[in-house]
Amino acid sequence: MKVAVFSTKPYDQRFLTLANTGERPHQLEFYEPRLSAATATLAQGFEAVCVFVNDEASAGVLARLAAGGTRVVALRCAGFNNVDLPAAQKLGIDVVRVPAYSPYAVAEHTVALMLTLNRQIHRAYHRIRDGNFSLEGLLGFDLRGQTVGIIGTGRIGMEVVRIMRGFACRVLCNDPVPNPEARKLGAEYVSRETLLRSADIITLHCPLTPQTHHLIDAGAVASMKAGVMVINTSRGAILDTSAIIQSLKAGHIGYLGLDVYEEEGDLFFEDLSNQVIQDDVFARLLTFPNVVITGHQAFFTRNAMENIALTTLGNLNELETTGQCANQVSASA
Ligand code: NAI
Repeated sequence: MKVAVFSTKPYDQRFLTLANTGERPHQLEFYEPRLSAATATLAQGFEAVCVFVNDEASAGVLARLAAGGTRVVALRCAGFNNVDLPAAQKLGIDVVRVPAYSPYAVAEHTVALMLTLNRQIHRAYHRIRDGNFSLEGLLGFDLRGQTVGIIGTGRIGMEVVRIMRGFACRVLCNDPVPNPEARKLGAEYVSRETLLRSADIITLHCPLTPQTHHLIDAGAVASMKAGVMVINTSRGAILDTSAIIQSLKAGHIGYLGLDVYEEEGDLFFEDLSNQVIQDDVFARLLTFPNVVITGHQAFFTRNAMENIALTTLGNLNELETTGQCANQVSASA
């Protein structure tokens, strides 16, 4: 299949090229820009586009793609909040994704953020390099016995349940579809209100949907324990960032770990170190000593990249040979 691959970095090219070794390799054309209304014309004459988390597959963009002959949108990620699925269906465009490439990668990064914040590794790193060996301000707490609230116990949330139970934490979960496996591991399902009220650490692992947009807003934050740790490695807009900033300023949220940000599309995955950041909300977040941000790298392990490349090309093979794909996303998803 002739595939226009958008938002590519050298590492995407490397892993996709290495995996493209079947009997009939796909014709991959790599483009650096994100897919948008302005760049959709690059896909003219390509049967498929391959996109990532911040590419824009809105109704307008999809209509342009369809007019240029594109019949497939292959997401090389799990989330599909950036694709207008009803519009794709109307235009006869198949949407496929990589539902699970390494839940371990994201779960482990989630816990890395928890440990970094708790033990102030980000601050200790700079202190030691500066010859400052004082421990003042670096006091942490034992994770053992802490209550961890996990919102969303799908593939990634379940791995977080496993790891946190390994730390001997009490684990409270909230999910409209409880997973019996979590109960077997000793976790309890509770209402969102109870979870928010009771947890010392709250971590988000639900998808971004109209129902979860700003799930953690000012009201939710107010109901949390003072000094709570909040971690978001899911999608930025699940948190109302302005409400979070107000709570950090008031000292109510004690720690914040983010791998995703509501407006990350204009920032993440690019080297902007020679530019002035224009996003004042993001710039404010960077001023807090108790906030650690990574730039959507939770998925970024060698294992995950290999799986993403293999599954993406496998999805295209399946569509090409059978017209269907097990990893197809339907408009009712
Ligand atoms: P999944 O589909 O296996 O699990 C999601 C779970 O969330 C399901 O159990 C679902 O029932 C639950 N859920 C849905 N609405 C909910 C609500 N309102 N409240 C509580 N739970 C709710 O998805 P998976 O693979 O665990 O991924 C979760 C999210 O992680 C993805 O949607 C994606 O946004 C994000 N992600 C982030 C990555 C990163 O690099 N930072 C990489 C991969 C995924």
